[in-house]
Amino acid sequence: MGASGKTTTIRVELGERGYDIVIGAGLLAEAGWHLKPVMPGRRALIVTDRPVAERYLPELEQSLRRAGIEPEHFVLPPGEHTKSFAQLEALLDDLLGVRPGRDATVIALGGGVIGDLAGFAASILLRGVAVVQVPTTLLAQVDSSVGGKTGIDTRHGKNLVGSFHQPHLVLADTAVLDSLPARELCAGYAEVVKYALIDNPPFFDWLEANGAAVLGAGGANRVAAARERAVAACCRAKARVVAADEREGESRALLNLGHTFAHALEAGSGYALRHGDAVALGLTAALRLSERHLGLDPAVREEVVRVLAPRPVAADRGLARAALARDKKARAGRARLVLLEAPGRPLWDVELPAGEVEDELDALLVDS
Ligand SMILES: NC(=O)c1ccc[n+]([C@@H]2O[C@H](COP(=O)([O-])OP(=O)(O)OC[C@H]3O[C@@H](n4cnc5c(N)ncnc54)[C@H](O)[C@@H]3O)[C@@H](O)[C@H]2O)c1
Ligand SMILES: [Zn+2]
Repeated sequence: MGASGKTTTIRVELGERGYDIVIGAGLLAEAGWHLKPVMPGRRALIVTDRPVAERYLPELEQSLRRAGIEPEHFVLPPGEHTKSFAQLEALLDDLLGVRPGRDATVIALGGGVIGDLAGFAASILLRGVAVVQVPTTLLAQVDSSVGGKTGIDTRHGKNLVGSFHQPHLVLADTAVLDSLPARELCAGYAEVVKYALIDNPPFFDWLEANGAAVLGAGGANRVAAARERAVAACCRAKARVVAADEREGESRALLNLGHTFAHALEAGSGYALRHGDAVALGLTAALRLSERHLGLDPAVREEVVRVLAPRPVAADRGLARAALARDKKARAGRARLVLLEAPGRPLWDVELPAGEVEDELDALLVDS
């Protein structure tokens, strides 16, 4: 059992594709016990990256063996470049090399990069095998490990090739966040703030008082409790949104608050910018537009700026604008954004003049 001795379980209600998200400190040591009941067979193919493998692979493998599961591991280089056709091909070849059956389970142990790549590989390996997500970054625990979106990047942009492949289980050990570099914690925290904004006012207020602890300030017990609570609150919000709209027909778009700008900035930076850092900037732009068009209280943006302290980034204005234009084209030529009337009252289909959206984007970047 975890350091705090308790776990939180959240169900993603998707009928026969439904699954649990289990959250708690120390869960890695009992992973075998949680995984065994959801695995179709006994073979576990663990996909991870080097820094995560060094710290956490032995503990996970030990725990699986104790439960009678046979683990094998596949260690990839860290970084966004790993979400590529080349790495996908190499990984699939390596996975096939151990001759898995259709009852094998891929285990994604790592951040969003590993989760997206391993999830995609699982969805096409032998026409689809089970995947379990074991997220190890704040961003992956609060966002990317839940909801079933998988994929890789291409030279045309991020996440343009992929699939929907729901995991059989998400196991979020919040204790592993202790080793996460501060920059990665901050990037993940931008998604936490996003959930607080779209979810409900109590969560936003709670974050005002406890956000620093989520980021690691204060005693170990307080930090651990704050992280468990924040991850659970975000997963609860995401589970609700995904259950209502699995494939982003409509309301799942709520999760894109700030993301139209974030994706444009990421493209403009040549994908050198962390996703979470781009989201922090994108949120401030979305909130500014929300003040102008929906009467959002400016105090909300002031609080978000205080905690995320976003700074304009060096990016290519032309590339960023082109990404914005592509985004608009993908939405039948209309610039539609997620905006906020108040914390907990988002609207996902606000149509705005394109020029105004471009001006907001411009304010987020300095020429590179
Ligand atoms: N599928 C989705 O719904 C979804 C949602 C949001 C983001 N994403 C994707 O997620 C990716 C970003 O994920 P990320 O921010 O987790 O980055 P990441 O996976 O690159 O991890 C960041 C770094 O932290 C290291 N790391 C991971 N866990 C650690 C730990 N516990 N201790 C020490 N180091 C650790 C990794 O080795 C890596 O170097 C992007 O590709 C983005 O597109 C996907
Ligand atoms: Zn995001």
